[in-house]
Amino acid sequence: MLELKSVHKNFGGLQAVGNVSFAVTSGSIKAVIGPNGAGKTTLFNLIAGNLEVSSGRVVFQGKEIQGMKPHQVAALGMARTFQNIKLFHGMTALESVMVGRHVCSRAGFLAGMFHTPATWKEERAIREKAMELLELLEIAEFADTEATSLAFGQQRAVEMARALAMEPKLLLLDEPAAGLNIYETAEVARLITRIRDMGVTVLLVEHDMSLVMDISDEIVVLSFGQKIAEDVPTAIQQNPEVIKIYLGEDEEATA
Ligand SMILES: Nc1ncnc2c1ncn2[C@@H]1O[C@H](COP(=O)(O)OP(=O)(O)OP(=O)(O)O)[C@@H](O)[C@H]1O
Ligand SMILES: [Mg+2]
Repeated sequence: MLELKSVHKNFGGLQAVGNVSFAVTSGSIKAVIGPNGAGKTTLFNLIAGNLEVSSGRVVFQGKEIQGMKPHQVAALGMARTFQNIKLFHGMTALESVMVGRHVCSRAGFLAGMFHTPATWKEERAIREKAMELLELLEIAEFADTEATSLAFGQQRAVEMARALAMEPKLLLLDEPAAGLNIYETAEVARLITRIRDMGVTVLLVEHDMSLVMDISDEIVVLSFGQKIAEDVPTAIQQNPEVIKIYLGEDEEATA
């Protein structure tokens, strides 16, 4: 599904991501972990086209995508959520998800404002699809509630539904459990597994180790921009180098 080949990113003198290579198998859940500042979000930004690689290649479904713009990458079938929730004020949960869908609708967002029969029909289809996704993520009862007034866990689910509305092949989730309590985290874990079972490949960044260990097929560990390990969860848990970097960091990041 996705392959990174010696991906490198410098910010001035700082090497945020150094020669990182790994692949994500179609139909799997892969996690990227590592201490704060390890380069995880930067790596996501490089994959999704939000940042340009300094060197290296990003291959998505057999196609080199480094240097492409985010909307071009999205059009190829990659969607993402952000570390900080990005929902618009004044929009209901349903409308928030419909925005994701409009990105790939034929009529497009502007055309949708001129209500021809064709756009009405498309609008209704978009609404139905968005509603289906809210049901899938178990937040259908909040369809008409303003998204930003929902509980954190529900806002995360709205964001995931919005990303899924683009019908991606690959979904990137940056810290989907950040700020959630243990119940909400368990819920998010279940939703991510459900998304994978729908046939969407998932790559996630996450600090919550119970979530990562429970749902990931494979884990990549970053430290200071370098890949220091890549393996199945049970092996990662016993990897001395990984244990060392996690014992060496502060409480908050390992919590
Ligand atoms: N736009 C930028 N300009 C300059 N430096 C940056 C930029 N973005 C990130 N960095 C630096 O690159 C390094 C990696 O940051 P990044 O946000 O990728 O880490 P992270 O692993 O996602 O951390 P966290 O777990 O805290 O989210 C950090 O040292 C950070 O300060
Ligand atoms: Mg980050």
